[in-house]
Amino acid sequence: MDSSQPPPFLSSFLGRYDDPIHPSSSRPYVTLTFAQSIDAKIAGRKGKQLLLSGKESMIMTHWMRTMHDAIMIGIGTALNDDPQLNTRHLPPRPPNPAQNNHDKPYHLPRPLILDTYLRCSPTCKLVRNYQQGLGRRPWILCADSIEAVDFRERFDALEKAGVRIVRIPGTTEDGQLSLPAVLKCLKEMGVCSIMVEGGARVIRSFFSASGSASSGMVDSIIVTVAPMFVGDDGVGYSYEPGSDQVSGFKQVFTEVLGRDSIVGLVPVHV
Ligand SMILES: NC(=O)c1ccc[n+]([C@@H]2O[C@H](COP(=O)([O-])OP(=O)(O)OC[C@H]3O[C@@H](n4cnc5c(N)ncnc54)[C@H](OP(=O)(O)O)[C@@H]3O)[C@@H](O)[C@H]2O)c1
Repeated sequence: MDSSQPPPFLSSFLGRYDDPIHPSSSRPYVTLTFAQSIDAKIAGRKGKQLLLSGKESMIMTHWMRTMHDAIMIGIGTALNDDPQLNTRHLPPRPPNPAQNNHDKPYHLPRPLILDTYLRCSPTCKLVRNYQQGLGRRPWILCADSIEAVDFRERFDALEKAGVRIVRIPGTTEDGQLSLPAVLKCLKEMGVCSIMVEGGARVIRSFFSASGSASSGMVDSIIVTVAPMFVGDDGVGYSYEPGSDQVSGFKQVFTEVLGRDSIVGLVPVHV
């Protein structure tokens, strides 16, 4: 695999890497993406972070990051994995005089964290990378109706660390942020495309919100399937087999990268 360019199937599915997707709809373009084992687990026992993607598919994922305005995770992933969400697995960019891109850094997506109660640590890697000029300013999306005594304290600590906090009106019945409200707000703030990287609960929410083709929140899905089994005590994203959620997407491509299979899907109405 030539890692100095995005894999051709990715470019034809999502667009050119130096021209992030900017659709004109009322919400950002959403790519849901994750790596899973053959038995559909995305993490190990008690959420232990697993290296599921092989080298080639990891590089593909980092190319995918350059193609989106922003990258979204849930607070569960932020606390458990402390990810950096950058493009560090991509090679130094070869000079291309025609494109005048000498030393031009890769486009870095803005980190977005769904964090209803502001549980994020002000010393997590995403914040530290931003403070050191190594990453973009993280935005944390929280509920606008929290009245916990120490909420203000957490709010102030995160803001002081440089985080932008975005308060989202309304929550779902189970107290989570409303995805339509989140996406509307982000679009109004100029975010036109988002790569949703997990974890389990966030993937489930996006699948549920995409149950009906007309109200879908997902424009494309890219799943890396690693040739390994994790077992019953691993973390899955689980959905109800046979529901609309499953029949709501159709396969567009399946590619082999190293030892992994990469599957691309779009909603059936596309
Ligand atoms: N294999 C992969 O590709 C991959 C990628 C990422 C993560 N992971 C794994 O996934 C695991 C973490 O998953 P997780 O389910 O614990 O956490 P998660 O999905 O990362 O975060 C879930 C949390 O986000 C907040 N949230 C707010 N609004 C939400 C909404 N509408 N829908 C869903 N969540 C919302 C909630 O926090 P509150 O409870 O505070 O309201 C919720 O508990 C880790 O083990 C990690 O290693 C795997």
